[in-house]
Amino acid sequence: MIEKCLFPAAGYGTRFLPATKSMPKEMMPIVNKPLIEYGVEEALEAGIEGMCIVTGRGKHSISDHFDSNYELEHQISGTSKEALLTDIRHVIESASFTMTRQRQMKGLGHAILTGRRLVGDNPFAVVLADDLCINEDKGVLAQMVDLYKQFRCSIVAVQEVPDEETHKYGVISGEMIKDDLFRVDDMVEKPEPGTAPSNLAIIGRYILTPDIFDILERTEPGKNDEIQITDALLEQAKTGCVLAYKFKGRRFDCGSVPGYIEATNYCYENIYLPKNKD
Ligand code: G1P
Repeated sequence: MIEKCLFPAAGYGTRFLPATKSMPKEMMPIVNKPLIEYGVEEALEAGIEGMCIVTGRGKHSISDHFDSNYELEHQISGTSKEALLTDIRHVIESASFTMTRQRQMKGLGHAILTGRRLVGDNPFAVVLADDLCINEDKGVLAQMVDLYKQFRCSIVAVQEVPDEETHKYGVISGEMIKDDLFRVDDMVEKPEPGTAPSNLAIIGRYILTPDIFDILERTEPGKNDEIQITDALLEQAKTGCVLAYKFKGRRFDCGSVPGYIEATNYCYENIYLPKNKD
């Protein structure tokens, strides 16, 4: 039903300079796995196999990561180190990858529009890899795909944040239609402090219906003079339906240093250590 997942990955990651001077921020590791690989695994778990990555200059290592490395694999073949490649080999065998380049940085809405040809005229998912989402039971995207099957409209993942943090996010307001699910009636990108319509902040997981592309084509630059997906979604919400889903699980803001460290500690203790007991 949802066959493709778009990964906007052209940003500079300036908060992690100098680490991101020549390395894409999406390749920053959480323990021993790059951020974008966690996102791809989450998409696969949701039954999505087509990964569409919107890259930019200096992002070659992302495509290289999702390909074989013959020399390295030949060298470690038959040794105990080969086990470290199990997850990435599974990802490469299960998914297909297509890339396109965003030539100008004009915001998240523009990045999503750049992926239009890769995605085609079908509903699709969007993952912002620097929001790392972890849920032991069912991943956040899988939870959203289940909802899409029921409601057939765009869905954004939301999380409650303290009032003093709403200015960092797109913030929604809406009527609760059932547990953890809201019908959006307003949405503001990074509201000025004290003006947010609620404390439900959008995090980097979306399911979008393809009419969003025509809306994005005519969306004027908004906050920070960028084309904002939040503005396009507000139009969709006013003319049709957009849902906001308070997901089950944890989300780490790996676009910030404290969130990145928190994610690293969490994954080390809860994923890496249990797998590498000996
Ligand atoms: C983007 C979106 C914002 C959303 C956030 C989630 O902002 O524009 O609506 O809340 O991702 O991480 P960015 O963090 O790229 O500035």
